[in-house]
Amino acid sequence: MERHIAMELARITEAAALEAACWTGRGDKHSADEAATMTIRRMFHSVDMDGTVVIGEGEMDEAPMLYIGEKVGSRRGPKIDIAVDPLEGTETVANGLNNAISVIAAAPEGNLLHAPDMYMAKLAVGPGLAGRLSLNDHISVTLAKASEILQKQLSEMTVSILDRLRHREMISALRDAGVRIKLLGHGDVMGAIEAAVESEVDMYVGSGGAPEGVLAAAALKCLGGEMQGRLIPDTTEEYERCIGMGMKDPLKLLTMDDMVGQGNVLFVATGVTQGDLLNGVRYLSNRRAETHSVIMHSLNRTVSYLRTIHHLSGAKIGNIAEAAM
Ligand code: FBP
Repeated sequence: MERHIAMELARITEAAALEAACWTGRGDKHSADEAATMTIRRMFHSVDMDGTVVIGEGEMDEAPMLYIGEKVGSRRGPKIDIAVDPLEGTETVANGLNNAISVIAAAPEGNLLHAPDMYMAKLAVGPGLAGRLSLNDHISVTLAKASEILQKQLSEMTVSILDRLRHREMISALRDAGVRIKLLGHGDVMGAIEAAVESEVDMYVGSGGAPEGVLAAAALKCLGGEMQGRLIPDTTEEYERCIGMGMKDPLKLLTMDDMVGQGNVLFVATGVTQGDLLNGVRYLSNRRAETHSVIMHSLNRTVSYLRTIHHLSGAKIGNIAEAAM
C-alpha cells in the first residue's frame, strides 16, 4: 500500500476530529458523530484509491453514509479495504471526557474482516504476550499464564475492561486474582492499543463492538501485539448476518489473520478529546487549532506521530474542514 495514502487518510481523520471537537461537552453525540462522518465521507473522494468500506457506520439499510460496501476514493488507485469509525467515543465527546478519536484502518482488498455491528469478545496484548495466550481459556488461566510469561506478580499487573454490567463476572474474577483493573468508560480501540504500548496496562479483556475490534487489531499488528476475538451474535438474525457476510463459522475464534489479513495494514487516528496516547484538538490563538495523530504501518512496524497546526480563518461549525485543509 502506498505511503501517500497514509498521509491522505491522516488529513481526513484530522478534519473529522476538528469537526467533532466542536461538539465537545455539548451533550449531543449524534451531531458530533454526524459532523465527523460527513467530513470523512466528503474528503474520501479526494484520495486516489479504489476503496470499499468493510467496517463503517453500519449496514446499508441503517446507515446513509460510510455503510458497509460503500465505495470510497477517486476509484483511480489501488483496491483497498477500509475500516472507519469517524468518531470512536461519541458519548465521550458529548460529555467532554477523554480518549475520543477519529480512526481509519486500511489494507489491500480482501484483508480486513467484514464485521457486522455486534459485540465481540476480545483479548488484546502487547508483544510480550503475543501468541502466548488464548481467548478460549478462562480469565483466571489467562492471568496465571500472563503472570508467568511476564515474570510479574498478579498484584503488579493491570488489566483494562469496559465498565459494563455484562462484565460483572469477569470483573469479579479479576478482583479475585488480585490484579489492578482499569475500568474504561468508553473507547476500547484505545483501550486495546494501550496494552501494546508503554503503559501500565498489560492486557485488555471483555466484549465491545466488533468493528472496534478489527480497528484495534490493525493497530496491534503494527505494534507487534495481538488481538483475538469472537463474535457474539445475540439473535438468529445476527447469526444469519454473519453468514451473509461470508463467515463459515460465526462463532469461531478470530485470529489476527482473520481480522486484518497477512499483508500490510495501516492505522491512522487523530485525537478528538485529550487522550492517553494522543492529544485532543486544541484551539490556539488567531483562529488556529492543533491536532495530534498517529500513523502506523505494519510492514516495518513504524509508528509516526503527526502534529498539525490548522488555520481556521472564517470557519464555522460544519465547514472547519474545508477552511483548514
Ligand atoms: P461509539 O464510538 O459508538 O460511541 O462506541 C464507543 C464504545 O465504547 C466502543 O469503543 C466500544 O467497542 C463500544 O462502544 C462498546 O459498546 P457498549 O457501550 O454498548 O458497551
